[in-house]
Amino acid sequence: MIRLDGRLGAVAAYVEEGMPMADVGCGHGLLCAGLLQRGRVPRAVAVDRSDLSLEKTRRLAGRLGLGGRLDCRRGDGLGPLEAGEVHSVVIAGVSGMGIARMLEDGIHKIDGGTRLVLQPMQGEDALRKALVRLRLNILDEDLVAGKGRLFDVIVAGRQKAPEYDLAYARVGFLLWLKRHPLLRARVEHRLAVARKLIANLQKSGKGPEETLDDLRSAVRLYEEMLGWL
Ligand SMILES: C[S@@+](CC[C@H](N)C(=O)[O-])C[C@H]1O[C@@H](n2cnc3c(N)ncnc32)[C@H](O)[C@@H]1O
Repeated sequence: MIRLDGRLGAVAAYVEEGMPMADVGCGHGLLCAGLLQRGRVPRAVAVDRSDLSLEKTRRLAGRLGLGGRLDCRRGDGLGPLEAGEVHSVVIAGVSGMGIARMLEDGIHKIDGGTRLVLQPMQGEDALRKALVRLRLNILDEDLVAGKGRLFDVIVAGRQKAPEYDLAYARVGFLLWLKRHPLLRARVEHRLAVARKLIANLQKSGKGPEETLDDLRSAVRLYEEMLGWL
């Protein structure tokens, strides 16, 4: 049985059971293979812009006998998908900016039933802001520890959701509302990094004032949050 690590396991948990899914930027195809093997989804579409990744995915599917249930397509972002053909669309292991760009380009492929399961490797705050700008509601958020760091999982779609407070985009507003057990660790780490950056910028005398202002407002937010956690 394909083993999904903590990060991919957290992503998999949000894929709607019994419904077809797509994994955009599938890499080696572990997620699709793991979900199909467990019978969690009836059919999967694996998309990647790299021939090599798709070849690895095809070979894995062949080895596991997943046959016609896994459809491998080469292309950029949501381009190879038809609107409405899958329920969950996963984009994992890519930068937040990269995910935002794929969603913007493929916005017409996202209908009222699509569930986006997004796992940015960095730039989560930029992704959250892009989702709100694209009128894609943030429905849930999770944080998972692995490989010495924390990973965000963001679930979004056109389904109705309470307004998202972007003042918390750096850490995750829904993680804050649910007082996620890993949030303290995240905020403490970010606070330490922001303080160090401020000290370095002040010492070198270099760097634009907006950067310093931004870092100072981040420090204020983190300090305030730690008071409540
Ligand atoms: C680091 S791997 C992540 C694999 C897997 N999703 C995971 O989370 O473990 C990133 C993959 O995304 C693919 N990728 C990056 N940008 C892409 C895009 N715009 N369209 C399609 N695939 C993309 C890369 O070719 C690579 O195979």
